[in-house]
Amino acid sequence: MSRLVVVSNRIALPEGGKASAGGLAVGVLDALESTGGLWFGWNGEISETAVEAPLKTQEHGGITYVSFGLEQGDYDRYYLQFSNAVIWPAFHYRLDLVQYQCDAWEGYCSVNRLLATRLQPLLKPDDTLWIHDYHLLPFAAELRKLGVSNPIGFFLHIPFPSPEIFNALPPHETLLSSLCHYDLLGFQTEIDRLAFLNSVSQITRLESRGAKQHHAFDNDFATEVYPIGIEPENIKKMASGPLPPKMAAMKRDLGEIKNIIACERLDYSKGLPERFLAYEALLENYPQHRSHIRYTQIAPTSRGDVQAYQDIRHQLETEAGRINGKYGTLDWTPLYYLNQHFDRRLLMKIFRLTDVALITPLRDGMNLVAKEYVAAQNPDDPGVLVLSRFAGAANELTSALIVNPYDRDNVAAALHDALTMPREERIKRYKEMMAVLRRNDIATWGKTFLNDLQRVSSRGGDQL
Ligand code: G6P
Repeated sequence: MSRLVVVSNRIALPEGGKASAGGLAVGVLDALESTGGLWFGWNGEISETAVEAPLKTQEHGGITYVSFGLEQGDYDRYYLQFSNAVIWPAFHYRLDLVQYQCDAWEGYCSVNRLLATRLQPLLKPDDTLWIHDYHLLPFAAELRKLGVSNPIGFFLHIPFPSPEIFNALPPHETLLSSLCHYDLLGFQTEIDRLAFLNSVSQITRLESRGAKQHHAFDNDFATEVYPIGIEPENIKKMASGPLPPKMAAMKRDLGEIKNIIACERLDYSKGLPERFLAYEALLENYPQHRSHIRYTQIAPTSRGDVQAYQDIRHQLETEAGRINGKYGTLDWTPLYYLNQHFDRRLLMKIFRLTDVALITPLRDGMNLVAKEYVAAQNPDDPGVLVLSRFAGAANELTSALIVNPYDRDNVAAALHDALTMPREERIKRYKEMMAVLRRNDIATWGKTFLNDLQRVSSRGGDQL
């Protein structure tokens, strides 16, 4: 069997356990644990001599981790200014936040080139390569220039925007043509896949054999949808283990208070200010809940060097203070806002203790937290998931209470329904969602993608 080589900007190094923020690190690690292989990526550090510094290799649990640091200039241009201040906002439909600079685009391309030259000597002829996410859109094109002919697949963890948005990016044509160097392009939803194909067909001639096999920019490639999953049984185990002493005390203190929980990186795509306002609408429209509920928002800082992320943090701090000031009483605080990172195991236990999860991104590729919340529940007395229709997960978790995050009264009404939902209905919805999560777990996601990659890149190129 050929070796799997995974490349992603963010890598979950063994000493950090599964604590790395974001769905990519969690999903990729879970998938790699079942296949073994090599994981190549940035160690999250900025170092003075990154270009010449030797790569760091660690072995753990059947995975070889090969990591590197980034120099300050590369970190600024490739990671902050292009990946996170151009691609991320545009792909989440926020062209207003895009800050395009030619210099950053050049930095993005040069880091992709540099990483390809550093990976190439480590490759064996029968390796299969799986590249992840928006930092590495031109990575296959760079590897091909170096003569690498191994099968190379790509999975985009975030949404792909419609052509009106995508084609506004100055280097859109180069980005599209480099993407076509991958043998297989995987997306979270059919909407993303079609948006990509529409963007290509607006720029060049796109020929398709069947729905999934294409030719454009002189390259053959395939496209398919692979919604990323979780390991439901493992999460159930994490969630149901004994409570740490502090949490046991917290559980006692809560008494009859019903708990609403939310957890994500502090990111403008997650719809946090809108969600705070929806919670305010709940307190306003359904005053019977005052003093009887608590909303805990966990939002660790993410990409704090990017201006838009600093702005959203200030906005949330102000809003949380305003809502608590307006509705709080001497013995009741309506909203707990925790700008802190929590260990994933602890988080799963917290999820199990809560009554409602409020996950309302304005755009999200998938949102694994929504899936994890469901898997963490007690099957005999599960909590309710309130989920944005703009999260990829809403396509699968149709038994959640699906809401429009821009409509605060709609979200408030769903919260009220969730807080008052009878146990039988909660159990029914939980069972339906668990069946979906079990059917498409993380191992299935990885296996399906890699089988398809073998098929499309084998001589003669089997059709999907
Ligand atoms: C999202 C992205 C990932 C990224 C993660 C954390 O899940 O899809 O590619 O790793 O956010 O963001 P960061 O910038 O800290 O890597």
